[in-house]
Amino acid sequence: MGDKQVAVVTGGSRGIGKACAKELAKAGFDVAIVYAGNDAAASQTIEELKAMGSDASAYKFSIAEEEAVNDGIAKIIEKYGRIDVLINNAGITRDGLFVRMNSEDWKAVINTNLTGAYYVSKPVVKLMMKQRSGSIINISSIVGILGNAGQANYSAAKAGLIGFTKSLAKELGARNIRVNAIAPGFIQTDMTKDLDTEKMSEHIPLKRLGEAEDIAVTAKFLAVDGKYITGQVIGVDGGLVF
Ligand code: NAI
Repeated sequence: MGDKQVAVVTGGSRGIGKACAKELAKAGFDVAIVYAGNDAAASQTIEELKAMGSDASAYKFSIAEEEAVNDGIAKIIEKYGRIDVLINNAGITRDGLFVRMNSEDWKAVINTNLTGAYYVSKPVVKLMMKQRSGSIINISSIVGILGNAGQANYSAAKAGLIGFTKSLAKELGARNIRVNAIAPGFIQTDMTKDLDTEKMSEHIPLKRLGEAEDIAVTAKFLAVDGKYITGQVIGVDGGLVF
């Protein structure tokens, strides 16, 4: 158990989660990442975090399974003794027009993106309440604000995360626990690799897709610097929503 602050990042093996993990390692955190499947990506990320001086470790479990989450978070607490920052970042898409969207695709997205954040936050919040400090950042999406054809399940989950964020901020403020959300626009990761970048960029005021680092610096700001900020949804979207 070190004396450094500790961050947990779900979906931290790649994409936006990995960038957040690295930004927090740079800010001096020990970082635990949670991931679902890609062992090679997770080990690569851990190597990179360790090279930055972070006592980093990876935990493989699905955030959509309550028991697995409780076991996994207990292991993280056993190793580090505290959790100062939680980034609920893990997420999936199962896109399709609503009339053709079957209940498996609906449930998979709600269970992972929304209920998963609930499962992970529960034991972490209990610990943060004892610590009387903590910062939780939920990675929502602009489509949780705007909606998107073909993403009824994903938009509902991401909008749900915004309500979740605001309610927890109200409940937990007196314990010095801050809860905020980030609503990314289109960010270049595995999740968006099949999009037509040039066509998308025309509709974005800043004329480009975002990078994972654009989200990571915002997460670090909310986690570390924004001590009087809670219950907010920060758009990091090149100007798509304002
Ligand atoms: P990605 O697909 O590159 O990475 C997703 C991560 O989540 C991976 O590390 C994966 O292992 C993990 N994950 C997925 N299901 C899991 C489960 N059941 N249990 C544990 N871990 C699980 O995605 P990306 O683009 O980095 O997205 C990260 C977050 O940002 C997601 O919540 C996504 O919805 C959100 N977002 C992404 C945008 C984009 O344009 N890329 C835009 C708006 C929001």
